[in-house]
Amino acid sequence: MSQVLVASNRGPVSFSLSDDGGLTMRRGGGGLVSGLAAVTGAARGTSGEGPDVLWVCAALGEADREAARRAPDGRIDLAGHETGGAAVRMLDIPPGTFHRAYNAVANSTLWFVHHLLYDTPRSPHFDARARRDWQSYEAYNAAFADALARDAAPGAKAAIQDYHLSLAPRMLRERRPDLRIVHFSHTPWAPPEYFGLLPDDMGAEILLGILGADHAGFLTERWASAFLDCCELLPGARVDRAARTVACSGHVTQVGVHGLGVDGTALRERAAEQDVVERARGLREQVGERQLIVRVDRTELSKNIVRGLAAYRELLVNHPEWRGRVVHLAFAYPSRYDLTEYREYTASVQRMAKQITDEFGTAAWDPLILQVNDDYPRSLAALRLADVLLVNPIRDGMNLVAKEGPVLSERGCALVLSREAGAAAELSGDALVVNPYDVSQTAETLHRALLMTRRERSERCARLTTAATALPPRTWFADQLAALD
Ligand code: G6P
Repeated sequence: MSQVLVASNRGPVSFSLSDDGGLTMRRGGGGLVSGLAAVTGAARGTSGEGPDVLWVCAALGEADREAARRAPDGRIDLAGHETGGAAVRMLDIPPGTFHRAYNAVANSTLWFVHHLLYDTPRSPHFDARARRDWQSYEAYNAAFADALARDAAPGAKAAIQDYHLSLAPRMLRERRPDLRIVHFSHTPWAPPEYFGLLPDDMGAEILLGILGADHAGFLTERWASAFLDCCELLPGARVDRAARTVACSGHVTQVGVHGLGVDGTALRERAAEQDVVERARGLREQVGERQLIVRVDRTELSKNIVRGLAAYRELLVNHPEWRGRVVHLAFAYPSRYDLTEYREYTASVQRMAKQITDEFGTAAWDPLILQVNDDYPRSLAALRLADVLLVNPIRDGMNLVAKEGPVLSERGCALVLSREAGAAAELSGDALVVNPYDVSQTAETLHRALLMTRRERSERCARLTTAATALPPRTWFADQLAALD
């Protein structure tokens, strides 16, 4: 039987430990996990045939470590579990190393570079401490490469995910040249002049790391092309733009574009469950028959929530006829709370929301409902009820909310979409596309969306749904594995 290894920072499950020492397993959060869970299940097939899947991830707390210690040979068997039945190996990475690799390098540096998030108060500053953080990032990547090299059967395929693990493909190739390796970037890729903010050695290590893979996958043509632009500046690398290959140190990497959409059937089934239905009923009671502008995001700087709220405010100022007739549901659930920037960002979202409520709210009308706690069924309920969906990131690899919304909306929603989201490449024909920095344009576009006839909205929404479901996760993953053959 062939073997597929998946490697990602966050795994398909996580554990919690009760006072009596019992372990409870939960399905892990995040889009990557849902996407990969669907495909590892598909890869195995219902009859149990298909490849043997081992998922290597980091242990994210003491309970995960304990689960790994209790599992025979450290392999947690998920046979029959909703995550698709892979076995999971959780790596016990020393907490300090993990913190520096995940928070300082992956989320505070690489995430900022690829999403163009640096600004003057928080501009890059690569000093001795950044070098130490970098060493932890190397050690973290090496821990993954070691585990994959140890567990891989001869000739196995390894699918390494995202910016946390940019160095692992090359490290794995050095340890196990017999394997076939794909690296996939779920984020945008920075243009060379922005990528060049990284110290030369770190930038080169990242490119060389990914070039250790046989196939490097990106969500859109634009991000793939930016990666090739960066490779063109890498000493010793030869880029063939027509063939979309990069040759370096005698090894050739194929660069591919694999768009990721949603599994419409599974998503609709989940959104028809009782917990979602109850929340939809509750929301409807709260807002009445008013039109709903909905947004659902992690509270993440790249999601541009503050400018989105500012646009809603400008809509109410410039088009007072909407006062009392529209409600904005803004669900911004917590993310990466260990980082000061994220905590401060949540506070600024809350301040802006309070300003809007104080300025326009009346005894009979709440203009804005902001929720900053995580409630997945409530998010699905909001998407079902949306008349307008606002997705306005500064920059985003794909943005699956832009695809989930049209699939779930009951009356057909108008999609106001940032041109900087990867999804715009597939949805721009029927979305109303905005420049995410242009608050006034976003406000006017919300106005246009609210005025759109039901008929136009539902026709556009039907086409958006077709586009959104054209590339379900299992196709996305199967294509990457096929690219290795
Ligand atoms: C988003 C990104 C992924 C990334 C994930 C990590 O979903 O699109 O590229 O892997 O965040 O999130 P985390 O909560 O684990 O930091």
